[in-house]
Amino acid sequence: MSYNHFFPTSIKNALSNDPPGAWIPKIPTDCIRLHRGYPASSLVPYDEIKSAVNTLIDNEHDLPLHYLGSAQVGLLKEKIQRRLSERGIVVKDAELLVTSGSSQALDLIARTLLDQTAVVFMEAPTYMEALETFKNYTKQVISVPIDEHGLKVDVLETLLLKRKQEQLPMPRFMYTIPSFHNPSGVTMNPERRHRLLQLASTFDFLIVEDDAYGELSFSEKPIPLKVTDPEQRVLHVGSLSKVVAPGMRIGWIAGAEKLVSACNWFKKDLDHPFAQATIGTYLQHTDLEQHITQLRNAYRSRRDVLVAALEQSMPEYVKWTIPGGGYFVWLHVPNVDTSLLLEKSLSEGVSFIPGKYFFLTPSEGKYYLRLSFSYEEPERMVEGIQKIGELITENYT
Ligand SMILES: Cc1ncc(COP(=O)(O)O)c(C=O)c1O
Repeated sequence: MSYNHFFPTSIKNALSNDPPGAWIPKIPTDCIRLHRGYPASSLVPYDEIKSAVNTLIDNEHDLPLHYLGSAQVGLLKEKIQRRLSERGIVVKDAELLVTSGSSQALDLIARTLLDQTAVVFMEAPTYMEALETFKNYTKQVISVPIDEHGLKVDVLETLLLKRKQEQLPMPRFMYTIPSFHNPSGVTMNPERRHRLLQLASTFDFLIVEDDAYGELSFSEKPIPLKVTDPEQRVLHVGSLSKVVAPGMRIGWIAGAEKLVSACNWFKKDLDHPFAQATIGTYLQHTDLEQHITQLRNAYRSRRDVLVAALEQSMPEYVKWTIPGGGYFVWLHVPNVDTSLLLEKSLSEGVSFIPGKYFFLTPSEGKYYLRLSFSYEEPERMVEGIQKIGELITENYT
């Protein structure tokens, strides 16, 4: 039976896109997984989370297992609020919504702000899952390029002016990952941040600031866009996935009360009180600053290992930028179709993500690839880079 006639047009449009997760490589066993944007196993606070679960159940018995959960759910929100204010983002209770990971935050934002005619601006390249999410709601996604200093605000301005002249609708929002961008690793400089905020005001659009990696700085700490947002145009989206544990699914939206409460309208009970209470308890007994400092040091040294391995193993024409934080290094491999390279690489037992998945127009990413230095242990990372370097040298040089 065809079920097609049951779907509304908007859903049919969404279902004509690639299925979710089409970018995940099918890896052989014991593959060196340089595609994975996961925290390192050794850096997930397993013991502390285990004892938070025990404390919660011992102290509160079945309470955390009910719909409303324990009071520790509220404690988590308080802790997030406090952490944000330490970073200069001061939000009231009603301006902060805890979500099931930042993925839910992005989906809720799309759900409340987009319809089939709405225009969204995104960076090129951008986080492939955000691209997937927004494409589920509208076909009107427009790319704005980045360079080593982040979003090219001059191109953005030209695009906006042109739309204004042609009387085309302005974007509902510009989605950006200003700090330690996924996949490129770059950080938007302060001048461009300032300009982006000005443009949002002049042309009347919102900014969705995805700050998934913002805390993982290796030297300079970038100042979030939300810190200087007098008109409340920024929806700041954050996550504990990269600094605590992704499986706990803790994220949030901080922004104008009206926007946040619209998102809450649709969130309903679609999040996880038990996970939230567990992480609330964990944060009560943890020095988060100390934990994040440890992560910064660990990931900085992993980045250095990866970059040194690239210098050793890659032919001279391969280029990359050195990220000041986050999880990723982005490679430009001129004239090498990285999808074909991946097939060869997987047969050698090494994975990465071909650049095409990070672009609205996949051909723009043909000669790029993303490597992650967060997940694999350093020796395996070096082995993986050596193999990719050999493949490029043997097949394309
Ligand atoms: C830029 C970016 N935003 C959001 C997410 C999703 O994170 P979460 O686990 O909080 O849903 C990721 C995860 O890879 C990411 O890289």
